[in-house]
Amino acid sequence: MTPIPHIPPEQLPELLRRMPKAELHIHIEGSLEPELIFALAQRNGVKIPYASVNELRRAYAFTNLQSFLDIYYAGASVLLKEQDFHDMAWAYLQRAAADNVVHAELFFDPQTHTARGVPMETVINGLHRACTEAGPALGVDASLILCFLRHLSEEEAFDTLEAALPYRGKFIGVGLDSSEVGHPPEKFARVFARCRQLGLHLVAHAGEEGPPAYVWTALDVLKVERIDHGVQSTKDPALMARLAKDRVPLTVCPLSNLKLCVFPKLSDHNLRELLDAGLLATVNSDDPAYFGGYMNDNFLATFAATGLTAAHAYQLARNSFEASFIDSARRTRYIDELDRVFASFV
Ligand code: HPA
Ligand code: ZN
Repeated sequence: MTPIPHIPPEQLPELLRRMPKAELHIHIEGSLEPELIFALAQRNGVKIPYASVNELRRAYAFTNLQSFLDIYYAGASVLLKEQDFHDMAWAYLQRAAADNVVHAELFFDPQTHTARGVPMETVINGLHRACTEAGPALGVDASLILCFLRHLSEEEAFDTLEAALPYRGKFIGVGLDSSEVGHPPEKFARVFARCRQLGLHLVAHAGEEGPPAYVWTALDVLKVERIDHGVQSTKDPALMARLAKDRVPLTVCPLSNLKLCVFPKLSDHNLRELLDAGLLATVNSDDPAYFGGYMNDNFLATFAATGLTAAHAYQLARNSFEASFIDSARRTRYIDELDRVFASFV
């Protein structure tokens, strides 16, 4: 739809809530709300070092990525049974539906669980069952992306891939997450090459805290189709030109960047700069239980802080469908629906 109809600024929040959108950067373990952590701890007889939901929530004061990851991995320790993985994903998918997320690609971190003795089958089957139910029950089309933990070795990533391959039909791609600095993408060159041969989609976190060089090697060595975060790319004009030319999607997570001190204030966020440079940027929640909000919270807070407009809203929602791993018929259907919602606001 061009041009975007004039939409009065006071209608922008409702438009942001109502527009259909895809979420492409959500770590499902990062959707575990403190209440669910406590409920699962009780159900499974797991001890957690916090006395109450409020005490746990008060621990969510992060200074950088690592300070968050330490608490995030501790929270995931309550997940033991297939039903636990299902219930976690189901809680997220209900929130997604409420935010008019019609398509979601969920990251999961199997190594966080297999290292504690939880079988791969338990993790994947629980998550996949929730994804399968979400289409008919919630109107959310959901799929899974397996992430390798980059602070571990490439050999361990190969072992993880091997363990997951019996369930190859239940995930659509692989990603790379955890501690970025000191663990450049090229550390995983061989395992990504193998995943590429297997026909899996490829994505990687790069340029969250790490340098633009990591975005270059994610593209040129790993050959990823999307960059997760990528906000450090604005420091490198040649990289910005490359991302624009090749229409490489960036899955940007504004409230995450704020909470992990990547930007001092939300009004300092460079989302507008990325969009103005013609990049295929999208808005996502990353770890919504830890960073203060789901999809619509990210949209509402970022638009309020940076003065983005209805035209940006349309671009971001459209980018989310362009950047997603869906077939073209579905993509057309979602964009048509987006156009209908915008037209209804005129
Ligand atoms: N960055 C890296 N690893 C992660 C993140 C993130 O934002 N969230 C969960 N694992
Ligand atoms: Zn992430």
